[in-house]
Amino acid sequence: MELQKPRGTRDFLFEEMKERKFVENTMRKVFETYGYQEIKTPIFEDLSLFTLKSGEGIIEEIYHFQDKGGRDLALRPELTAPVARIYLNQLQKAAKPIKMYYFGSCFRYERPQAGRFRQFWQLGCELIGGKSPDCQAEIIALAAHCLEELNLEDYQIHLGNLGILRGILNQDGVSADNQDQIMAIVDKGDVEELRKLLNELKIGEKSENILLELIGIQGTQEIIYDVKTIIKDYPDALKSLKELEELLIMLESFGFADYIVNLGIARGLDYYTGCVFEIYVEGLGAQKQISGGGTYNLIEVFGGDHVESAGFAFGFDRVMEALKKQKTRPPLKSRLEVFVAPISSETKLNAFKIAQKLRKNGIITDVELSGRKLKKILSFADNSGARFVVLVGARDLENGEVTIKDMETGNQEQIPIESVADVLDNRINPSQ
Ligand code: HAM
Repeated sequence: MELQKPRGTRDFLFEEMKERKFVENTMRKVFETYGYQEIKTPIFEDLSLFTLKSGEGIIEEIYHFQDKGGRDLALRPELTAPVARIYLNQLQKAAKPIKMYYFGSCFRYERPQAGRFRQFWQLGCELIGGKSPDCQAEIIALAAHCLEELNLEDYQIHLGNLGILRGILNQDGVSADNQDQIMAIVDKGDVEELRKLLNELKIGEKSENILLELIGIQGTQEIIYDVKTIIKDYPDALKSLKELEELLIMLESFGFADYIVNLGIARGLDYYTGCVFEIYVEGLGAQKQISGGGTYNLIEVFGGDHVESAGFAFGFDRVMEALKKQKTRPPLKSRLEVFVAPISSETKLNAFKIAQKLRKNGIITDVELSGRKLKKILSFADNSGARFVVLVGARDLENGEVTIKDMETGNQEQIPIESVADVLDNRINPSQ
């Protein structure tokens, strides 16, 4: 029988894990610079946490199961609902706004393809209890800052406000459920299907034409003036447009002006209410969206107070893909620095002691554990990428010394055992 990993999942080997760790740590640092603190939630939750707002329809996209006690559970498809639950369970009395970030895997029962997996990772944040669009401005600046820090090239940040479309639908008396249905189709970008649904729902011709026009509008700040004219008879929609305008002004103060206003953004999840944004990297093809988020209202849906919230999540795997596709790659850290090689079996115990000393000094060290002859050890150390080998021989030991071999130049040099950590540290990190 051939053992296979489940469909839509991946294994990550050493080099890839190093790259992922580097990117994860870089982004974590940026989130923490903005005052976010990390939280961790369970991998599985009650299924109802995800169906409460989205309805039973979402079950098709979720990994769900009954445990031995007959409880309906789900592997989390995302982390915003779990964070809203934590807020209700433990943080209602905390000083606001509350800034939380997370990094963890999510699961969606989707048809796997390039950039779309059944297990994937999100690095994201939730800002609970702040005011929009101020919060929006800060989280967009934070998202852009992460990508700058990673030197990602060629990404586009698209901004919109769902309140504009919803304002028009509200004025036409479209129910919340039907609005969610419409938003889902706008998100898919299927204009024909949208036209069909708008006709079925008997939305007035004027509103239908305006909706179809709005979802195609993209551009710089300038388009706001045109939109104002288009929606002049819809006061709620105008209020949301004003909020978008304020957001753009605030973004300038946050030092970020490189965006595209896009009124066709609808977001796939139906808890969003106001400003929304998505980040795209064209080179990624169909799964080009590397991040998405916005203002949402989940806490109230879950029975809490009306607490304004905003957040976003990077699709971590897609960020990795985007970085891999460009020429400048993130630097790899933690290559093996030293391999300690006993020249004969009698010096093995000394080799272990020296390896421990180096490790306690923060040097990435491996030691021979397979009892091989020196020639084999040296070729193994070379293949492992070790920068230096410490040769531990009986004659050197009698003089209180070991030999260090530079694997790049081939030079060998005897040094006192007590200074081995210092000498190697200086060679590995010459600038310190
Ligand atoms: P989302 O857009 O569904 O939003 O997911 C966020 C990101 O996760 C997407 O932009 C995409 O890059 C990545 N992603 C989604 N599905 C997959 C998949 N099957 N394989 C690989 N990557 C995927 C949310 O989940 C919201 N909770 C974000 C948020 C936080 N909104 C407010 N706060």
